[in-house]
Amino acid sequence: MIDLGGLQLVHPVLNASGTLDALTAQAVLGDATLGCAAHVTKTITPEPRAGNAAPRIAEVPGGMINSIGLPGPGLERFCSDVLPATAAVVDVPIIVSVGGFSHDDYVAQAERLAGTEGVAALELNLSCPNVKSGCISIGTDPRETEAVTARVRATSPLPLFVKLSPSVADVGELARAAEAGGADVLTLTNTARGMVVNRRTGEPLLGAGTGGVSGPALRPQSLAAVATARAAVAVALVGLGGIETADDARDYLAAGATAVAVGTAIFRDPRAPGRIRDGLAGI
Ligand SMILES: Cc1cc2nc3c(=O)[nH]c(=O)nc-3n(C[C@H](O)[C@H](O)[C@H](O)COP(=O)(O)O)c2cc1C
Repeated sequence: MIDLGGLQLVHPVLNASGTLDALTAQAVLGDATLGCAAHVTKTITPEPRAGNAAPRIAEVPGGMINSIGLPGPGLERFCSDVLPATAAVVDVPIIVSVGGFSHDDYVAQAERLAGTEGVAALELNLSCPNVKSGCISIGTDPRETEAVTARVRATSPLPLFVKLSPSVADVGELARAAEAGGADVLTLTNTARGMVVNRRTGEPLLGAGTGGVSGPALRPQSLAAVATARAAVAVALVGLGGIETADDARDYLAAGATAVAVGTAIFRDPRAPGRIRDGLAGI
């Protein structure tokens, strides 16, 4: 058993938020979790959102870049429709990822979710590079990170994960801030801020201008972030960024992670989480 901030998991492989829709996976593959020991939802926001202008994804060497921009149904429809439907097909703990544009957004969602059946833990997304305010501006400022984490901590008894960005000067400082605010687990990392140019026009390719780089290209940065956080804090860490194989996952465990998450690899091989879980068996 793996203890992740009080959440007991049968093995150390999760999915990365925003890269596995349980309902689609169930409909298409007959397997909602793809072998993950907990299911992490797409980040939800208080109000419905359409997301950013297209194009929203592109391939880059060693991975992809996305500027999806947190589209979603909003908190109320998540609670009334998406969560019950997800809970009906997912047989592992559900970690709900929340994002927002102010501290109050995070606190209000945490309050609502604390009283909602089927929520095993919360993950505060303080690191989405694809919304212009909120998430990333809170998550790149240690005082704001500590303050919002502390307010959510005071609101919710659920295990509290805080997800951080690799695109910061000192991830150790942010890790300490989240821990001081009461986080039980840190998730490292979200995508790294990046850009691609449309060579025909000379303009940014993505509709939003910039996006977040994921996949193997991100792995060295995320590994360094995990190692830095491991030296800075005592709480459990979930390592992610470009994990495609069990050996990649082992690198994160060696750097100090307690568990790992798989994201971009799922797009190419939906069986990747189960394969990685099997490859880690016995460690
Ligand atoms: C298409 C896409 C959507 C994503 N959506 C979210 C999201 O809603 N919330 C979040 O915290 N991270 C989101 N992420 C970031 C992933 O959870 C993960 O942190 C990142 O992609 C690094 O892992 P990977 O290289 O294994 O994909 C998204 C990533 C991708 C590629």
